[in-house]
Amino acid sequence: MNELFSLQGKNAVVTGGSRGLGKEMALGLAQAGANVAVISRKSAPEVEEELKAYGVHAVSIAFDIGQIEQHEELVNLVEAQLGPVDILINNAGIQKRHPAAEFPQQDWQAVMDINLHAVFSLCQLFGRPMLARGAGKIINIASLLSYQGGVNIPAYTASKHAVSGLTKALANEWASKGVHVNAIAPGYMATEMNDALINDETRSRQILERIPAQQWGSGQDMQGAAVFLASAASNYIHGFTIAVDGGWLAG
Ligand SMILES: NC(=O)c1ccc[n+]([C@@H]2O[C@H](COP(=O)([O-])OP(=O)(O)OC[C@H]3O[C@@H](n4cnc5c(N)ncnc54)[C@H](O)[C@@H]3O)[C@@H](O)[C@H]2O)c1
Repeated sequence: MNELFSLQGKNAVVTGGSRGLGKEMALGLAQAGANVAVISRKSAPEVEEELKAYGVHAVSIAFDIGQIEQHEELVNLVEAQLGPVDILINNAGIQKRHPAAEFPQQDWQAVMDINLHAVFSLCQLFGRPMLARGAGKIINIASLLSYQGGVNIPAYTASKHAVSGLTKALANEWASKGVHVNAIAPGYMATEMNDALINDETRSRQILERIPAQQWGSGQDMQGAAVFLASAASNYIHGFTIAVDGGWLAG
């Protein structure tokens, strides 16, 4: 059974792995034996050290994934430091909140660039060598906003619906070639991205009351699903988005 979930000797990349959900998923993969490269806007040597404590090879790379024209360089850098990549977690994401009628074009573009355009580009660039080898696991981080509309977050909602659709589209093309593309939709997780919601007493209470599990999620809650989708245990799963949401979507 342990072998089914083992990531021993696998090389993984986690974008946005310096904090929040990305960091915890990176630690989960390392605990299962994977070598991990975390990519974030600022280098995260402390995360690199935490990962190495699991006896794996780990690197932290500072890179703005919004620089899509430089993604090939990023892939080369990762492969030079880690070797061929077996697992990609497209986790980095941003949020901008404004009423839809006043939503600035600049913020729309920024959200689309990070949450969608960069995700597709990294799927392509890390995906091609996986296709050539006939093996690979890609996990895109979707959201409850892949299913629902939300309020004041039209760009985020549009981008996360697209991530879920892109996951299915890639799975249709790549499943027969040994490359698994799936997604995880986190629910309401207590990370810095949600500071605005958590600090709004009324919204925070309303959200909590609506979660069947009666608690906000944590980064650690993402580890099981991430390891599962990265491992042989999920080998017949393609194009699916797993919700890690305390039951929200069932409500
Ligand atoms: N927290 C939640 O409740 C929640 C719910 C659903 C989905 N998500 C999704 O989960 C993912 C992680 O969210 P989080 O809450 O941990 O966010 P976070 O803000 O705590 O962390 C985001 C990470 O992404 C990285 N990042 C952002 N822009 C980047 C860029 N241009 N280049 C490189 N790295 C960049 C940051 O450095 C950071 O490491 C996101 O895709 C988010 O949309 C989060």
